[in-house]
Amino acid sequence: MSTLIIVGAQWGDEGKGKVIDLLTPQVDMVVRYQGGANAGHTVVVGDEKVVLHLLPSGVLHEGCQCVIGNGVVIDPDVLITEMAGLQERGYLRDPLRVVVSDRAHVVFPYHRLIDQLREARKDATFIGTTGRGIGPTYEDKVARRGIRMGDLIQPDVLRKLLETILPQKNQEIVSLGGKPLVFAELFAQATIWGEKISHHVKDASLLVEQSIRNKKQVLFEGAQGTALDVDQGTYPYVTSSNTVAGGACTGVGIGPTLIDDVWGVSKAYTTRVGEGPFPTEEKSSAGEHLRKQGHEFGSTTGRPRRCGWFDVPLVRHAARVNGLTGLVVTKLDVLTGLEDVKVCVKNDDQKVPVYETFPGWTEDITHARSLKDLPRNARNYISALEEKCQVPIVLVSVGSERSQHIMVRKPFTS
Ligand code: IMP
Repeated sequence: MSTLIIVGAQWGDEGKGKVIDLLTPQVDMVVRYQGGANAGHTVVVGDEKVVLHLLPSGVLHEGCQCVIGNGVVIDPDVLITEMAGLQERGYLRDPLRVVVSDRAHVVFPYHRLIDQLREARKDATFIGTTGRGIGPTYEDKVARRGIRMGDLIQPDVLRKLLETILPQKNQEIVSLGGKPLVFAELFAQATIWGEKISHHVKDASLLVEQSIRNKKQVLFEGAQGTALDVDQGTYPYVTSSNTVAGGACTGVGIGPTLIDDVWGVSKAYTTRVGEGPFPTEEKSSAGEHLRKQGHEFGSTTGRPRRCGWFDVPLVRHAARVNGLTGLVVTKLDVLTGLEDVKVCVKNDDQKVPVYETFPGWTEDITHARSLKDLPRNARNYISALEEKCQVPIVLVSVGSERSQHIMVRKPFTS
């Protein structure tokens, strides 16, 4: 086995960044395939906390090639700032390890502005987006009026495209009550971005495919989660991309027969940011415990996350639509100190959750490095999740640091 997709099994923020970062020392390449700077992957190294929005989490490991596939929408300003920030902190000594697909679409300032102006109306279409211009950029892609990275690095092509598109965008901005953007300023800014990024822009599909054929170990890093997938999620309260495992093939340009394994990542409870249904949401003191102990505030927007109990039907759905071969459970330590821990085992006809209750534990579990190090109640809880979700548990995270985890099954071994 040499390829593994990591996907979120809930509404994002499941701790995928840590999982990818943990597995990266064993891999040659990490690839992002959808989403954009709406993602916020937090990785803790020693005393340092690094939040990545666009770069694959593997970027912290010098030997690892990092690819941003065609399915990602790229805000060049974020990408350039993120790379410079990492270099200042001593990471990314070889910046050319970062490769960006020439087919990936560019997020322009008008996309961000339109996203924010639309959301500010708080009308019936309010989603609670991250305001990063993600939806408007994917809309332009599908409407065939997007600008791609390959265009950004060719000033003549870029000029022609922007001359046609900007007036249309300005019309929408004005109709939403915003201030139109000035062509000359936008073009000048975009040309600088193109110059700075040009060395990274390549045919990423070919690069990834060749690496797999050459038996390199390749990890695909999903952003957001299955329940935010534009097709399989809680539509319309979703993001605008295919977050599921299938998105890795279309978002990179490789065939499904090249994928060996798919691991879903789920918290030991559930969180959600933004609007939309959340059957197991807890507004009681238990919900407050989860938010406080789990530091449940968005890493991109700082918004408090909505918190609730583990939802088996939700993760079973993720197992099905992603074809999960393994389940990673994160943040088990956050449940420590709760008298009882509830799990939604099914929804009744009115979609009201039906719970099973498990006794909690008070012991510090952050030092556990194998399942048998866990107190009995925590072990029982993990076994129950495995049995009810019908996916083998491969990894359990018991704290935010890299070392704080239990590896049940090593990847790239079968
Ligand atoms: P957008 O992706 O900014 O358009 O936001 C659409 C929905 O997806 C909103 O509910 C966001 O809160 C949610 N969302 C987008 N990215 C993330 C993420 O990385 N983690 C969690 N929720 C996200």
